[in-house]
Amino acid sequence: MRDEADAIFEVIHRRASIRRFRDDPVPAEILHEVVAAGQRAPFTGQMYAVVVTEDPEKREALAELYGPLPRRAPVFALVCVDFCRLERFIAARGRVNRADDLTMLLLGVQDAAYAAQNMVLAAEARGLGSCFLGAAPRLAREMAEMFALPSRVLPLVGMVIGYPAEAPPPRPRIPTEYVLHRDAYREMTDADVERALGVMDAGLLREGYYGKYAARRDPDPDARYGWGEHVAHKYSTRPGDLETMYRLLAERGMMLDPGGESTDA
Ligand SMILES: Cc1cc2nc3c(=O)[nH]c(=O)nc-3n(C[C@H](O)[C@H](O)[C@H](O)COP(=O)(O)O)c2cc1C
Repeated sequence: MRDEADAIFEVIHRRASIRRFRDDPVPAEILHEVVAAGQRAPFTGQMYAVVVTEDPEKREALAELYGPLPRRAPVFALVCVDFCRLERFIAARGRVNRADDLTMLLLGVQDAAYAAQNMVLAAEARGLGSCFLGAAPRLAREMAEMFALPSRVLPLVGMVIGYPAEAPPPRPRIPTEYVLHRDAYREMTDADVERALGVMDAGLLREGYYGKYAARRDPDPDARYGWGEHVAHKYSTRPGDLETMYRLLAERGMMLDPGGESTDA
């Protein structure tokens, strides 16, 4: 039992997102095993669907939308929040889903995310590497068309999977003392903030992370670019696009805008 626990911790702690892959295909039975491991996650309604493709033409088209990773990895998986199948089960028992779509989404995102993370760890345990691709919800229209997604199915996150051609170090995290609160939430002091950012920046700068993956968002090439700059830039320059998100959700048959109307056919 001790060895089993150690093995799980080892997999969790050694994992890092992989962005360079060997060409070797992923055997179908291993892919099946990885998705089945995803399903072992705790759930509220098993509100997820995973669409995988190894088709080079589809992966090329996906690379046009997500950047180069779907081209570099042999497998692309689209993890979706799936109300459609749950509602089929409810209908099969003669009932109608009366939960509001925000509640459904909050629960469905959790179902899908815990399954996706189980897949990440299962892939790691089988010697595979993976990386999430977060643009999926914004690409809901393109994903729905490419993968024939029915109404009430929302792309949540993309994932590339394959055998790693790199062995990056585990990436830094905010010190746990700023995450774990005992008895009550404790706000950070300014010194805590600097210390936490210092830990994040030091780890990523040591790896040369942003330079290596050409993920810089800072327009000044001489700036000391670390995680602090990255999140500050990323979250401060995003246009507020609540309306776009409402519209994309409505196209998926999900009504989040209290004043809106479903545009799903
Ligand atoms: C929801 C989500 C979306 C992500 N999207 C991207 C992405 O679009 N491109 C990318 O290279 N990495 C993406 N990542 C991976 C993160 O950058 C990565 O997990 C984080 O930097 C920590 O690094 P690690 O996974 O190596 O520990 C995403 C991760 C999550 C959870």
